[in-house]
Amino acid sequence: MDALRCFEDNIELDRLDRESFLARHKLMGHPSLSLENLGKVLPALPPSNVMYSKSRLANGDDFETTFRDRPEGVSVSQVLESIRESSSYIMISSPEKHPSFHDLYRELKSDVEVLMRRRGIGGEALMSKLYLFIASPNQITPFHVDRYSTILMQFRGSKTITVFPQWEDAVVKSEDLEAYCDYERTKLPWSESLDKYGKPYTFAPGDALHIPFMAGHHVANGSDDVSISLSIIFNTDETMVWRNALCMNHRLRRRLPMVGRSVSPVGRSALRDQVKDFTYRGIGYVARRMGREW
Ligand SMILES: [Fe+2]
Repeated sequence: MDALRCFEDNIELDRLDRESFLARHKLMGHPSLSLENLGKVLPALPPSNVMYSKSRLANGDDFETTFRDRPEGVSVSQVLESIRESSSYIMISSPEKHPSFHDLYRELKSDVEVLMRRRGIGGEALMSKLYLFIASPNQITPFHVDRYSTILMQFRGSKTITVFPQWEDAVVKSEDLEAYCDYERTKLPWSESLDKYGKPYTFAPGDALHIPFMAGHHVANGSDDVSISLSIIFNTDETMVWRNALCMNHRLRRRLPMVGRSVSPVGRSALRDQVKDFTYRGIGYVARRMGREW
């Protein structure tokens, strides 16, 4: 059996993409994640991969659009220098483009693929990439969902991460989840009253947390230190079926309102989701052959 290199090997496989759970990673002290190395990596990456904000974020903010407007006249190196005293947030998409992250990415992807094979949900981590987050004490990551399965690892500072059930309509309505997955809108309705559905995790260096595909979550950094965390996001054969089924539902609702009103939500029946996935891919194939959008 393949051994895991980056995680302690007590991962609760049955819960993968069903429920959130804590694990432990073995990457503490990894040279790629030192502030010294990050100070070199950030300016060397393509600017579009390095997003940062100099304001305190709040739940209810649109997380995906927060970083579109860069703070004027402030470089990412300046943000990094003052991150302990300010309310800043740096998010790096695909740090694996930098040579100092090549090996780390390869090892993490390999571990994810070991877990997928053991669980029987494919052998290749699809659309996989890393995200690196560096944030000031007390900073907030607003409530959002990811179109991926996630394993998040903490390296410095502490935080509270609240994860919500994956297919709970009371947290995110099916219509909103589908539109989000299909990139039509990126802001989800939020109210503090939803917190009663969430499961809070206290997250410290050495901890890893699995966030299932499309499960809502928000994060509050501790007041003690700058937070450095890294995630690997990926899709499996199973989450790709869900992704396509969510997009199929969204397009049915948008184009055929009479039919759309009665479409069944995704994640309740594997067979129904597979039929929607098959149909979505089939229509997409025909549309592309005809040079049409759909
Ligand atoms: Fe996320």
